[in-house]
Amino acid sequence: MCGIIGVVGDEPALPAILDGLRRVEYRGYDSAGVAVLDGARIDVVRKAGKLDALEKELASHALDGHTGIGHTRWATHGGPTDQNAHPHTDCTGNIALIHNGIIENYLELRERLERDGHQFASETDTETLAHLIESHFSGDLTAAVRAALSEVEGAFSVGVIAAEQPGLIVAAKRTSPLIVGKSDGATFLASDPTALIAHTRDMVHVLDDQVVEIRKDGFTITTLAGEPAEGNPIHVDWDTQAAEKAGYDTFMLKEIYEQPDAVADALRGRSLPNDMLALDELRLAEEDIRSVDKVFVVACGSAFHAGLVAKYAIEHWTRLPVEIEIASEFRYRDPVLDRDTLVIAVSQSGETIDTLEAVKYAREQSAKVMAVVNVVGSSIAREADAVLYTHAGPEIAVASTKAFLAQVVGLKLLALYLAQVRGVMWPQDRRRIVEDLHKLPAMIAQVLKLRPQVRELAEHIANSPTVLFMGRHVGYPVALEGALKLKEISYLHAEGLAAGEMKHGPIALVEDGVPVVAVATQCHVYQKVLSNIQEVKARGAYVIAICSVGDGEEVARHADRVLEVPRIHELLVPALVAVPLQLLAYEVATIRGRDVDQPRNLAKSVTVE
Ligand code: AGP
Repeated sequence: MCGIIGVVGDEPALPAILDGLRRVEYRGYDSAGVAVLDGARIDVVRKAGKLDALEKELASHALDGHTGIGHTRWATHGGPTDQNAHPHTDCTGNIALIHNGIIENYLELRERLERDGHQFASETDTETLAHLIESHFSGDLTAAVRAALSEVEGAFSVGVIAAEQPGLIVAAKRTSPLIVGKSDGATFLASDPTALIAHTRDMVHVLDDQVVEIRKDGFTITTLAGEPAEGNPIHVDWDTQAAEKAGYDTFMLKEIYEQPDAVADALRGRSLPNDMLALDELRLAEEDIRSVDKVFVVACGSAFHAGLVAKYAIEHWTRLPVEIEIASEFRYRDPVLDRDTLVIAVSQSGETIDTLEAVKYAREQSAKVMAVVNVVGSSIAREADAVLYTHAGPEIAVASTKAFLAQVVGLKLLALYLAQVRGVMWPQDRRRIVEDLHKLPAMIAQVLKLRPQVRELAEHIANSPTVLFMGRHVGYPVALEGALKLKEISYLHAEGLAAGEMKHGPIALVEDGVPVVAVATQCHVYQKVLSNIQEVKARGAYVIAICSVGDGEEVARHADRVLEVPRIHELLVPALVAVPLQLLAYEVATIRGRDVDQPRNLAKSVTVE
């Protein structure tokens, strides 16, 4: 999500830091900053906005030190402001730190540090780390970083400098990526190889709970406990463009494969040991949530499909009536809203004008608005009464994949939270679902292994005049999403349908060889989907069925091809079934020679009505 850079060398650090930050711009960010150690002084310059704004600010500073760190921030806790930009410092300004990740227990650490007299200047989880290191510092930065990180829960890759120790950067890593590398006369740290390939192609992936001391003549890796350790050496022969895609052919494929991590990040720090859910970004009072008597979900495109999945879950768990409406229709249909209506706006970019206008309209009608968005500080986030960030990280490809899965998961957490606050769900039932949610990252990684079989299916359907997708219950919004993915990147006509609707018209489209993708996973309407498969099969369809592990043999009696996904609570299945459908769209588009990342006529964020 964020980009981190550090360098210690014979030359002034700033030019190499800025070059490195430029090379990780593609990751997406909303503020940037640098800290340079010159003699016994740390100078920190940071700015909301893009690197141009930072470089303009730097023009009035003389930063000549040879030890420095830099950061491009993708906001998670606290909006994209100068104050929240990294690097962050301790109370004295003699320790500066950059961080990529999420500190889950930052609130309790911050409260303790404030009680001990530490003064905070930002809303970020990262600043807590700077003060925590300060609280352990007595002249040995490495020891202070070890002690501080042993108290931390969550994900981090950090670079830290101290005025008392020029020529040294201490780095450390857990979950978030950290690379180190050495060139003639300098040693570097970065969040990904892209930033370092200009200096060296031989790098080392630092491993979880390892600490690195970086000096100009090289680096030393130890465990968090101080034992000697080795990272994972790599030789990177990618060109810059390939490096930005981490070696994948396209951003979309990279983002499809980032989904286990994106879902893990969406869940990170949101369920507590006592089975309660802590959604700390939400700012609606619990009594307001308890007074809600109706829910509206508004969104566009894939976000709408995620919202439709959420409708089933919210109604089932909270017993609140849920209406869902495409955002561009919402405010023109004169919807019935009042102060006891909760409107949930779903948007990856947080800038989709149809959804933003729907949010403004809802608030004019005195409804309460919760936004589920990916981009921190975006317009929809700012316009809403409460926000749940999906923490999927920047999504570059126009076709939404990891953001969609993070929306599905984030909305499930929201549904569980609403049920918790309204006291309408047994803790043991909530616990079981949260346990299944935490199984998703590993299950998604498993489903990604279906790609070779999906590629074969893509070759079979790549030149069909149309492809139908059908499902029931939460399989229906997944069918809609599968059809959208296929048509938006391959330009092949596709339609998503409620399987029970086929016989009311659409089955007239079925003739010999028409591909029909059926979502036939284990759920209370599974047998009915099997019947729908037989209906279309009887009229010549080429049926591709996605079912639950263990049902393959039965489903294969009716379908031409079967893909199996792991068994999980039926309301969570969309987060698994969407993955082979994303891969199917990707493989068909690739066969058809399409520009997968930037399909024709489409924009990543539709900011016009
Ligand atoms: C999804 O693959 C499309 N790119 C599009 O439907 C998108 O989901 C829609 O425009 C909504 O965007 P948002 O989530 O940024 O509001």
